[in-house]
Amino acid sequence: MDGNRRWADNRGLPRLSGHQEGVKTLKNLVKHVAAAGLKYLTVYAFSSENWNRSNEEVDYLMRLFGKVVTDELDELAQNNVRLRFIGDIAGMPADLQNYFATAIEKTKDNKGLSLQVALNYGSRLELAQAMQAIAADLQAGKVAISDIDEQLIASKLYTRELPDPDLIIRTGGEMRLSNYLLWQAAYSELYVTPLLWPDFTPEEYDKAVTEFAVRERRWGL
Ligand code: IPE
Ligand code: MG
Repeated sequence: MDGNRRWADNRGLPRLSGHQEGVKTLKNLVKHVAAAGLKYLTVYAFSSENWNRSNEEVDYLMRLFGKVVTDELDELAQNNVRLRFIGDIAGMPADLQNYFATAIEKTKDNKGLSLQVALNYGSRLELAQAMQAIAADLQAGKVAISDIDEQLIASKLYTRELPDPDLIIRTGGEMRLSNYLLWQAAYSELYVTPLLWPDFTPEEYDKAVTEFAVRERRWGL
């Protein structure tokens, strides 16, 4: 969800207010895709590298995450959305971890859209933690070296219960993955739009899906 601050800059608004606008965009999109019957939506909200931003911005974002999760939980639950988080959640502020645990528990039986929010997420961090988990299993004698295959590695990732993404949409025009779902994106279709995240309407999402629908996926064939 890239481009919030540029969106605010372009309008002469305080930069951080762009994040607030980005929340509105996300709410509209979640409603839209849930109604359309999408099974999984994963959004990149805060990377493990975003801690390098100013204290002011990090504090602002943490407060915003806590507020959005608590304010939106009832409506998400009513709309049959299952809310989950991927990333090193243990490294998030303790109050947020509590809100997240409440949200996960409250929505765990919902069978509609599965919505994952990536927070303190980085693919390299995820893979390093997976390797540690496998090494611990190895040391404990639970697995042998020859057991280490793609399936075992995938089972140690934050996304262990999720299918790989079919389509990855990046707003804000940058032609890179920025440490997002590197393992999982092996065969994902990529769609980059120059639109800044707050301008990414449900109609723009539909445009991305329409293009995705005519892509030829060859899976190495
Ligand atoms: C939102 O957009 C991404 C977050 C980390 C919350 P940015 O904050 O990266 O906005 P730009 O790219 O500077 O415009
Ligand atoms: Mg950015």
